[in-house]
Amino acid sequence: WSDPITLTVLSSSPQPVLTVSPLWLSPGDSVTLNCEVKHPSAGWRFYWYEAIPKLSDNSYNYQLLSGSRDGTEKYSFIVHGQTHTAGYVCRPTVQHTQPNAKLVSLVSGCSSLTVSPERAQHFISDSVSLECKGNSTQWRVKFQEDSSLADCSLWDKMTGSTCTIEEYRSRNNVYWCESGSGEFSNAVNITKQKYEIILVSPVHPVTEGSSVILSCRLRSSDIVSNVFFYQNNKLIQNDTRKELNISAVSKSDEGFYKCQTSGRESSQSWMSVKGELGNPSYLLMLMIVGLICGVVLIILLLLLYRCRQSKGETFI
Ligand SMILES: *[C@@H]1O[C@H](CO)[C@@H](O)[C@H](O)[C@H]1NC(C)=O
Ligand SMILES: *[C@@H]1O[C@H](CO)[C@@H](O)[C@H](O)[C@H]1NC(C)=O
Ligand SMILES: *[C@@H]1O[C@H](CO)[C@@H](O)[C@H](O)[C@H]1NC(C)=O
Ligand SMILES: *[C@@H]1O[C@H](CO)[C@@H](O)[C@H](O)[C@H]1NC(C)=O
Repeated sequence: WSDPITLTVLSSSPQPVLTVSPLWLSPGDSVTLNCEVKHPSAGWRFYWYEAIPKLSDNSYNYQLLSGSRDGTEKYSFIVHGQTHTAGYVCRPTVQHTQPNAKLVSLVSGCSSLTVSPERAQHFISDSVSLECKGNSTQWRVKFQEDSSLADCSLWDKMTGSTCTIEEYRSRNNVYWCESGSGEFSNAVNITKQKYEIILVSPVHPVTEGSSVILSCRLRSSDIVSNVFFYQNNKLIQNDTRKELNISAVSKSDEGFYKCQTSGRESSQSWMSVKGELGNPSYLLMLMIVGLICGVVLIILLLLLYRCRQSKGETFI
């Protein structure tokens, strides 16, 4: 008789759910990935990957993140100094050959995805186009659908590098572009409203110190009565002005905005604010690293020079 062994049988496919927080960040921020599994077993290790777009067959290559070579014991993983939008995948244990949970970390970086008309909320009767701009000649427009990533061409029309959401198509999603060379664009949150009223607010993060104007729009009539503006559900403007004019945006202006007029209320949209020159601490760090590298290089060159000199002397 041998010693008894315990046999653990995994259900066919316990889908891990990957969550990312925060969803919107500035270049240089850290992002925490969480891999939730229904019934984790003791001794499981978690493997973390970055998704690299592969245009040829509309799929991804998965690249193991450094620091995750042997997997991690913990079900969470922190990516430091995130500089661009990226897709991540987690895989609990090596038994799962197919990574299946995907979620994208949305970084508000350079604006290579443009939206027309340029606003976050649209009427259901609007046609909205999302255009990818950048070095690549081949782009695809993606959005998150439940826990997987969907392609614009699945439901909408992709012409060249532009995805068009036609009139009366209801789409409330976060969109971004991916290129064959593995680039992701910034991401935008687009909603199409079935209601008569929308808030006109910036779709991209606004820069600190710049000015921004928010307004309200009705689908089939002009605004005749007062417009009330709310930030995070708090009334911030109640007078005869029809627009909310923020002349120098600061970090405290970040938040959810909505408007109200003629007894109608819009949905709220998030307005994010980015620092004037990206993230200053990140730039400072880069400068310090650069300076240290420079000094080390100079010292090495000096040592080499002296080394050669003294060698020369002994030969003489
Ligand atoms: C485009 O490519 C050039 C040269 O390869 C590079 O310097 C530039 O930063 C790229 N632009 C973008 C938006 O990636
Ligand atoms: C706006 O101000 C007026 C007068 O101060 C007040 O009567 C009204 O209730 C306010 N509107 C809202 C939505 O609070
Ligand atoms: C908004 O404020 C800026 C700066 O104070 C000013 O130049 C601009 O005319 C204002 N716009 C409106 C519509 O009031
Ligand atoms: C996108 O915008 C909608 C409406 O404002 C909001 O409910 C949703 O949470 C936003 N999504 C993200 C990822 O910020």
